[in-house]
Amino acid sequence: MTLPEDPDPAAHYDRVTDAWRLLLGESLHYGLFAHGDESLADATRALTDRMAAAAAFAPGQRVLDVGCGTGDPACHLVRTQQVDVLGITTSAIGVERALARAAAAGLLGRARFEVRDGTDNGLPDETFDRVWALESSHLMPARDALIAECARVLRPGGRLVLCDLIRRRDVPFAELRARSAEFATLREAFGEARMDPLDRYLHLAEGEGLSVDLAEDLTDATLPTFDRWRANVERHRDEVTPLLGQSGVDAFARSADILESFWRDGTLGYGIFAAVKPS
Ligand SMILES: C[S@@+](CC[C@H](N)C(=O)[O-])C[C@H]1O[C@@H](n2cnc3c(N)ncnc32)[C@H](O)[C@@H]1O
Repeated sequence: MTLPEDPDPAAHYDRVTDAWRLLLGESLHYGLFAHGDESLADATRALTDRMAAAAAFAPGQRVLDVGCGTGDPACHLVRTQQVDVLGITTSAIGVERALARAAAAGLLGRARFEVRDGTDNGLPDETFDRVWALESSHLMPARDALIAECARVLRPGGRLVLCDLIRRRDVPFAELRARSAEFATLREAFGEARMDPLDRYLHLAEGEGLSVDLAEDLTDATLPTFDRWRANVERHRDEVTPLLGQSGVDAFARSADILESFWRDGTLGYGIFAAVKPS
């Protein structure tokens, strides 16, 4: 089994960004399926809109998007919520693609993008009305530092909204060892990641003085994502193979099967929470 040479998320995202646009779509996240027969594009947008509902935006608010991908959610928020967004990511390619997207949409200025680390963002205290982290936290093992930074930059009365992959049960060491080949495949396709129970996020947020007012398991509604990813591998195999290599494409396809089995057997899933900083 070939392990990735770039487990570091910044290097990983620099390498996979263009291929993932074909495999995952413009937004680099799971879909939220109400019926199961929606397109991946509609379902990924539905997840962004589910986050937006949890964020309860008001026009003119300042939003920090932690782990902004190539800027599709941020540009969507500027257009639909009339907010100003600063997107940050450790991937320089991500920032380049996001700036190009915002420029093409005439949104530069209202959608800004910078290379910054979500666990040590260097931004001033209490400057954002909303902090948004859409499927980026699993790439930040220093989860306590991530949540502390999110809380620090929020204005009093502001909201943190986060959704991501979650761990839904303890995996005994013997099982981890027995399934090590599956974990290596996931690592090759998705880079270094760590999933925590949704409760751990709530605990960290409350530890930072935030008050959690929404927490929901979205595992069932995200399950059809894996079918769409497999279909995209078949549809775009010739285009993504030069970008990811044969082994990278195979690892991505196998990962869809592995993740689906984890979703079905209750090991992994998807969750969302929101929390408010007291005024
Ligand atoms: C699965 S993608 C999600 C992107 C985007 N939120 C979306 O929904 O389209 C994860 C993102 O987190 C970013 N990321 C990983 N580690 C990070 C860190 N320490 N600080 C900031 N961003 C990070 C990646 O570069 C990537 O942009």
